[in-house]
Amino acid sequence: MNGIDSYISYLSKDKDTIFMEYGMYNPKLYKEPLRNNRFKQMTIDGIEAIFETSSNNYGGFASIYIPKIDSTDGFYMFNKNGNIQEVLNIYKTIKLNHSQRKSPLKINLQEFSDIKSPPGIVLYENNCLSCHSEYRYEIGPSLDPKFIQSKGKFWLKNYLYSKKKTLEYNIECSQIQKKDSVTANELLKYLFQPL
Ligand code: HEC
Repeated sequence: MNGIDSYISYLSKDKDTIFMEYGMYNPKLYKEPLRNNRFKQMTIDGIEAIFETSSNNYGGFASIYIPKIDSTDGFYMFNKNGNIQEVLNIYKTIKLNHSQRKSPLKINLQEFSDIKSPPGIVLYENNCLSCHSEYRYEIGPSLDPKFIQSKGKFWLKNYLYSKKKTLEYNIECSQIQKKDSVTANELLKYLFQPL
């Protein structure tokens, strides 16, 4: 199906449907408050992906989100309510980047983290992309990965922990508390991956 700015398709079996969305505008951004789900960040054929499933082991939702499948497009695939393991088994067959990989992905539900310690990219999108974009000035300046890396980890760490000036309309860039160093470290790890 042709969406407005993305391609949408779906696969149905029994009572469950897997939807796929692919397009220019990131189809899934963690801008809303996070749901009480399980998360796992991993790279597939060199491309970063996040798996998210319901915390229920019996049935529910399982998704794969690839923020940048190429330089401009994102991909999001999710079901609504089905057998989580069966849906993940389908996702295990995903190959990207003209991959010649023979074996399925290793996706182990035991290695998923919960809402208390989601992976860096989820924290980044959830905490930062409501005001910033990587591409242009929004409420705050663009967080171009090259710019961030040129500033350095030490600088950004101090920046994250510092109390910012309050600007017009009471907007201020987020401050992360020292006690939330797990969050700060996950963000730094994410922002300072090799480009
Ligand atoms: C409520 C809106 C808002 C949120 C949320 C927010 N920022 Fe900001 N950010 C701003 C604004 C506005 C500025 C520019 C004004 C200033 O310096 O305070 C800014 C400035 C920055 C700068 C400085 C850029 C420069 O040129 O010096 C960095 C780096 C930054 N933000 C990173 C982040 C990160 C990382 C997060 C997530 C943890 C985040 N921001 C969340 C609004 C926000």
